Formats: sequence, C-alpha cells, structure tokens
Amino acid sequence: MPLKSIYLVPHGGAIVEDLEGPLKPDGILLNRAMKKVASEIRDDNIQLILLTSPHGYIHPTDYLIYFHDIYEEWQVIENNGQQHVKRNMWMGNVQVAQILYQLLRESGISASPLILGDTNFPLKLSWGDAIPLSFISGIEGPQSVIFSLPMYNGESNQDELKKLSKTILDMLNLDIFQEINVALVISGDLSHKHDPEHHYGFHEDAKVFDELAVQWSRSQDASIIAELYKMYDTAAPCGLQGMNIIQSIFDLDSDWKHENTVYGLPTYFGMQISSFKKK
Ligand SMILES: [Fe+2]
Repeated sequence: MPLKSIYLVPHGGAIVEDLEGPLKPDGILLNRAMKKVASEIRDDNIQLILLTSPHGYIHPTDYLIYFHDIYEEWQVIENNGQQHVKRNMWMGNVQVAQILYQLLRESGISASPLILGDTNFPLKLSWGDAIPLSFISGIEGPQSVIFSLPMYNGESNQDELKKLSKTILDMLNLDIFQEINVALVISGDLSHKHDPEHHYGFHEDAKVFDELAVQWSRSQDASIIAELYKMYDTAAPCGLQGMNIIQSIFDLDSDWKHENTVYGLPTYFGMQISSFKKK
C-alpha cells in the first residue's frame, strides 16, 4: 500500500511565527510538532500528499477536487513592527485529481472539478489548506492533491465520509500508485468554545471534546468518534469530519499504528497534531 502515513493537523495562524504576533508557549509546541511532521514527510520520501480541510472552496453539496498543477498563498508576516508579504507556492497534480474525481463519481459521491482560469494558473488557497502545507511542503516538495468537503449537513454525511475513505484506499491500490509514497493530511481543529471573550463563546463541552479527541487518536476507537459527534453543536469543532475520514480508514484497514499526538490551546480553539503510520 503506497499510503505510508496519515496526519491530523491544525490550521490556526497561532502556530505560524509572526502571523498573529509572537508565538505563545502552546504555539511554540505545535509549531515544533508541525516541523517534526515536515521532517517525517521528507524522511519517508513522500511524493504525493492528499489533503483536505473544512475551509477550502466550499460547495453546498459537492466535494470539490482542485484541478490545478500549482497553488499559492500570500501571508502577511509582522516582525518588530515591520510587515512583509510572503508568497508560498506548491505543486498540484491534475492527473491524480482527475482520477480521484472519476472514482468519487463512480462511488456515487457528488464531486466536481474546481478550476480557476486554467489548470496551470496558481489557485489561491485558504488558511485551512495553506497553513499545514506551509510547514510540510513547498514548490520543490511533494505534490499535493487537494479536495474540499461540502457544507456540513449533520450526522447524515457520516456514511458518505466512509465511502470517501474507501474510495481513497481503492484509488491508492491502483497499479499506477504502487511505486509512489503517499501521505494523507487532514486539516482540522478541535473545539472553538474555549474562550468566553471570543465570539464563539464558551461551552463546558470544549474541554471534554478536546480531551476525548486526544484519547481517540491514541486508541483509534470508533466509539469515541460517535461520542464526539454528540458534541458537534456544543463544542463547535471544524476537524471532526476529518477525524471521521481517518477513523473510516482504520475501520477498513486495521494495519495502522498511532505514532504521536501533541495537543495545544494557543488561542480560543484547541489544536491537535496526530501522526499514524502504516505498520
Ligand atoms: Fe478550522
């Protein structure tokens, strides 16, 4: 199986140096953990990253597959009162995007290609995709194929996420992928209800949700995902669907082991970095 590793990664600006001011202690912790993910991806000679986040180009009903050979993002960095703009760029892979699109359609999943202008034109990424990629890849790094999740429509989409995970595994079992090392990177964060001063507000489930999410990654226990779904509205996570995609892969293939989990709360929402490796 060319799928070597699966990562759950955060996308808050509070883990990037000088993007939202100096890093706080938990930001430093998560920043270091993301750099560790980057070095693992290099050491494992990952050539292709499949990435999804809840904050890409969002269609009401369809998974959007980014048909682009190049992506970009502009970050405004502020250091010692000086602002400067940094351009990040990454390579995509339209051929793989087309295969994923085709297979999703064949699986009965509503999917559409996303093209801005032309497949060779740099597609601007949002923070959900760009922040994780800014750590783990670059123009010379592994190619990334990105797909976005449709708008969340309640627990009814859980079966579809299972189908999505199966389609990803089926795709990577195709002959053309057998010589390629692939990582699945799921961008998503935990509860947004930790800070009464923030407009998301506070809910006592925030802490419960985040602790349980960490417990899930260490145990890979599907029943915990079901527990987390019960707190979807009260804890307001953006990464639960992504965690469900990961768990669905474990349900289909038990040959995965948890490597490491780091949790931090550098701002009003919880962030978790978890790595899983194929045994
Ligand atoms: Fe988010």
